Amino acid sequence: MAKIAIMGLGVVGGGTADLLTENREKIRAACGEYLDLKYILDIRDMPESPYRDLIVHDIAPIAEDPEVSIVAETIGGVKHAYEHTVRLLKAGKSVVTSNKQLVSEHGAELLALAKEHGCRYLFEASTGGGIPVIGPLSRDLSGNEITEISGILNGTTNYILTRMKGGGVGFETALAEAQEKGYAERDPSADVEGTDACRKISILAATAFSKLIPPARIHTEGITAIRQSDVAAAASVGAAVKLLGRAIRRGGECFVLVSPFFVPGDSPLAHVDGVYNAISVTGNYVGDVMFYGRGAGAKATASAVVADLIAAVNEGAPVPAWENAGEDFPTEFGSFSCPRYLAFAGIDRNAVRVVFGDVTFLSGAEGEVAFLTSQKTEAECADGIARLSVGGGQLLSMIRVYEIGERPEA
Ligand code: HSE
Repeated sequence: MAKIAIMGLGVVGGGTADLLTENREKIRAACGEYLDLKYILDIRDMPESPYRDLIVHDIAPIAEDPEVSIVAETIGGVKHAYEHTVRLLKAGKSVVTSNKQLVSEHGAELLALAKEHGCRYLFEASTGGGIPVIGPLSRDLSGNEITEISGILNGTTNYILTRMKGGGVGFETALAEAQEKGYAERDPSADVEGTDACRKISILAATAFSKLIPPARIHTEGITAIRQSDVAAAASVGAAVKLLGRAIRRGGECFVLVSPFFVPGDSPLAHVDGVYNAISVTGNYVGDVMFYGRGAGAKATASAVVADLIAAVNEGAPVPAWENAGEDFPTEFGSFSCPRYLAFAGIDRNAVRVVFGDVTFLSGAEGEVAFLTSQKTEAECADGIARLSVGGGQLLSMIRVYEIGERPEA
């Protein structure tokens, strides 16, 4: 029987305890032994909790108990989660985590520590909630060169954008709805400003490329500036505006970014609606593989935590080695190239043609000129915007256009 502990009896920790209890026999069949929950670390006493007798307030009993071989870290944040994880790994105990902030900031160091002490550091639940994507990327697709990962990695923002499209409501109304339904955090800035998606694409890129780019170095834009008329303009050409995390390797270049994109209707990502997440992975032999499911919530995320507990018992896979990315990785963002959707006030179509050449005009809101450009680098786009601004144009929106790039032949 493997003795385990959970750190943090919040939404995910509670879901994990419930799943371990409810599916105890199923999990035994997967592990070959029972997973026996021995401790739960929490600062609260929680006398109403069915797990109250397991609660401890200090890490020491867990770290010093030789019977405990695996610990689930569902605390969140960095300070305590980092200190406890280091202590447990140094004691040779495997740690599985749902903590995207910790993995995206300290993953390289924690994986190295796990390797040094002969244990595992697993983080399936940190990205995509219940969607199994880290495991398939690091195991089933590991013989491929991964050329692209593009994903809808945040359920709250996808709900908001879906409502702006289908319900015709503005950003503020859609956000209020998301909060009412309990999807958005009380302080939703990590969702709507792209921070949450940024942490997740950092982890996915590191899993694919073995180089960890800290979130602070990833170009990140959220959805707060998206207008209902932008979403309507996208819909008029069969596209949808989606907040994407993307990690792209093209030739010798690599780009990692989070930004809203115009996603054309021929991409499955355009049709992922509501709070669902989806991650498209492209390998140089497998082509496109798509992962879809619930990216958040107690039960879905607990499913991923327990998958890692089972993997830790079954051992097998080697501990991956991540380097902390140097200054040369990823490629400088100014050379990222894609078509753009732009909307201006204060200029006419002729001015647009003079600056951006051949464009496709869209039906924008009253008094606006909205159009799609050809491929432009960040630098070229900024230059064009500056030129139109000098001519009296007022930029209302700039949204990058997602393109389905080259794929391997079948
Ligand atoms: N707030 C996140 C989301 C939860 O909306 O996807 C999971 O990280």
